[in-house]
Amino acid sequence: MTTMNLASIPRDKLPALLRAMPKAELHIHIEGSLEPELIFALAQRNGVNIPYASVEALRAAYAFTDLQTFLDIYYAGASVLLHAQDFEAMAMAYFERAAADNVVHAELFFDPQTHTARGVSFETVITGLARACERAQSELGVSSALILCFLRHLSEEEAFATLEEALPYRAQFIGVGLDSSERGHPPEKFARVFARCRELGLHLVAHAGEEGPPAYVWSALDVLKVQRIDHGVRSVEDPVLMQRLAATRMPLTVCPLSNVKLCVFKTMADHNLAALLDAGLCASVNSDDPAYFGGYMNQNFVETFAALPALTSQHAWQLASNSFEASFAPEADKQRWQAALDASFAAARTP
Ligand code: ADE
Ligand code: ZN
Repeated sequence: MTTMNLASIPRDKLPALLRAMPKAELHIHIEGSLEPELIFALAQRNGVNIPYASVEALRAAYAFTDLQTFLDIYYAGASVLLHAQDFEAMAMAYFERAAADNVVHAELFFDPQTHTARGVSFETVITGLARACERAQSELGVSSALILCFLRHLSEEEAFATLEEALPYRAQFIGVGLDSSERGHPPEKFARVFARCRELGLHLVAHAGEEGPPAYVWSALDVLKVQRIDHGVRSVEDPVLMQRLAATRMPLTVCPLSNVKLCVFKTMADHNLAALLDAGLCASVNSDDPAYFGGYMNQNFVETFAALPALTSQHAWQLASNSFEASFAPEADKQRWQAALDASFAAARTP
């Protein structure tokens, strides 16, 4: 692990530094970036009925008690996406916000089964998203990649069928993940499909230890052989697991606003991000489903640091550095972003 002497940066300079520092986003469900205004615009354009009278009424429904109460609304919101241009518009809106937050690289999750179940083809989904990824680079200078997520409340057989549909577009995505309802759907349910994806040379990640127990993090590591754990905050309940995560620099893509909105932690002041970092874990900050949880990357950073006095400029640097270390981007890009990160902190140190 690299470190940097950041002792001379005072705490009141932190919000500006958090906003300005270059960073990577590794945990964003692109369907979770669909803002209510765009849901309504697409519903009207596509003739889809949504059971809310207005943007305000829809936003008012965003009061979640757990992961499932959120997922029910999230899947309903995604029902307005029908055409490639809808997926492109959604992803471009995200990339514009990401660029404004100095996100230089984003790895986007997408849920094809949410769309193919409604008769929208895999080709439609990936065409729109891939177009947005190209435009993000050419119009905004944001690097990106796509990660296909299997819905864990569905069967492994259905995941295999989705993989089959996706393979003609293998060049358009870099990996697979596992999301949706965690409890009762342990990683090992998807052992064979992840083994196949591994043979295909895909990167592997999985949500684990968000609502589910540390045992799910163990099986994501040992059965699925993932390269990153999405969330993983419940790992602190298992000291042996914490030692393993630290010793192997296994990345955890942490999503603080999400965790509070879904009642994983009661308040932001209760979040364990500082403990994860101080235990030497490769944790990063991410937005998960920013349209539903109250903010994009910089909002996550600023609110988390405001609520946790233990977090310092050293932690800020470490989080951004971890996001590059944990990304699946080419080494040369990672080194360039890391140098830009160091330069932004060096500039903040000079009075
Ligand atoms: N799908 C979208 N957001 C998710 C989350 N936070 N956990 C599991 N599945 C999701
Ligand atoms: Zn997630």
